[in-house]
Amino acid sequence: MVKNFYIINYGCQMNVYDNEIIISILTKNNYSYVNDISKADIILINTCSIREKAEITVINKLIYLNSLKRTRKIYIGILGCMARRIQRFIKIKKSIIDFIVGPDNYRELPNIIKSIEDNRYFVNVLLSNEETYSNIFPSKIYNNNKVTSYVTISRGCDNMCTFCVVPFTRGRERSKSPKVIIKECEKLYNSGYKEITLLGQNVDSYLWTPENYIKKYIYNKKKAIDFSCLLEMIAKKFNDLRIRFSTSNPHDMSIKVLKIIKKYNNICKYIHLPVQSGSNRILKLMNRKYNRLEYINLIDNIRKIIPECAISYDIITGFCTEIEKDHIDTLNLMKYVVYDFGYMFMYSHREGTYSYRNLKDNVPLIVKKRRLNEIINLQREHSYKRLKGYINTVQNVLIEGISKKDKNYWYGRNSQNSLIVFKKNNENIGDYVNIKILKNTSATLIGEIIKYY
Ligand code: SAH
Ligand code: F3S
Repeated sequence: MVKNFYIINYGCQMNVYDNEIIISILTKNNYSYVNDISKADIILINTCSIREKAEITVINKLIYLNSLKRTRKIYIGILGCMARRIQRFIKIKKSIIDFIVGPDNYRELPNIIKSIEDNRYFVNVLLSNEETYSNIFPSKIYNNNKVTSYVTISRGCDNMCTFCVVPFTRGRERSKSPKVIIKECEKLYNSGYKEITLLGQNVDSYLWTPENYIKKYIYNKKKAIDFSCLLEMIAKKFNDLRIRFSTSNPHDMSIKVLKIIKKYNNICKYIHLPVQSGSNRILKLMNRKYNRLEYINLIDNIRKIIPECAISYDIITGFCTEIEKDHIDTLNLMKYVVYDFGYMFMYSHREGTYSYRNLKDNVPLIVKKRRLNEIINLQREHSYKRLKGYINTVQNVLIEGISKKDKNYWYGRNSQNSLIVFKKNNENIGDYVNIKILKNTSATLIGEIIKYY
């Protein structure tokens, strides 16, 4: 019987969390997780489809693994977002892949692995309206860091941004029950974790109702728990656990949530607020459901309610029909907000999406690249400026690990999610320390310890 499995991970935080679920399911069924590929009988590849480049990386990995397959008996499984799409790569499927399992079918993995041992090729990529893996506690062996952890609060997405494959690869949005979420936080807290990040494609549309946790149905508003209630419940119950969350769609973020963030010290003062574009015309084509002015109003409200809050973004450059004026609108919006940091991408035309079916990917690559570089350069300036603002302040930092550049230094983060490095004394990973900030680059703050608390 095959026993040992290894996971190759691509993609987002949600995939990291899902790997913990997969390890939990398989180890309960007598499979062993190994972190050395040479000891594995089964190689699971958790995939990402968000941009073409992510898929090409997976295909290249498969070609490499095929050479390994010729030297010994191994089974290869494709999991995650590419599961529903991988059959497009027919030639690869037949020769290399033994099974394909979509994000909602991981409970089936033990049976599927048994059936492939009988030489049966297996595919299960059906999406579910209910699966939240609620009764499975994610295994933490995958994550060596015993300080910070993810807690998924919802799966899937109903937003249908026209460029995005997630609604097709991960299905409808469904929220996990607050009871299960709190139990998960409690377990983490009791085993010494200091920080959790609540995960969802769109955390602000979290909604749980006793009647039915699919929010589109009629529900009793009084009994329903929305994201602001959930945040408050967790913040109150674990008052020295740091809480982060990701991601907030600007369309769904409420003033109520901002007030809860302000009210509780342990909720980090940091919001990732993907804008995608600063142009009204492009936002409409993207089906983002907010316009430039509404986004700016939200930013103004954040600044008013939580002045110390850091804000980051995702921007897509070179979306279908984007002209110079749209791009300038994006740069101007960035200049208005002066973001702390951001993630910027060139538009990638994804088969199956609305924009793929209805719009032309007509911005030349060279133009996309130039616009991307302009965004990167502007952000570098803004990040530098924002970080400079911390000089001579004292920041409360949670130590996450040893600095990669110098083993005599720790790295950690403040509430605003800025990366801070400082010289080690006798601290431990997981300690909170107060750091006086002395210097900065455009990505890091450098400081020294002033006291423990
Ligand atoms: N709900 C998640 C979305 C995950 S996708 C979130 O809001 O974070 C993460 C980011 O990838 C998106 O915000 C978007 O900026 C980018 N992205 C999504 N589809 C893309 C595409 N087709 N081309 C380029 N970037 C894309
Ligand atoms: Fe994608 Fe938009 Fe949802 S970016 S994950 S469809 S909020």
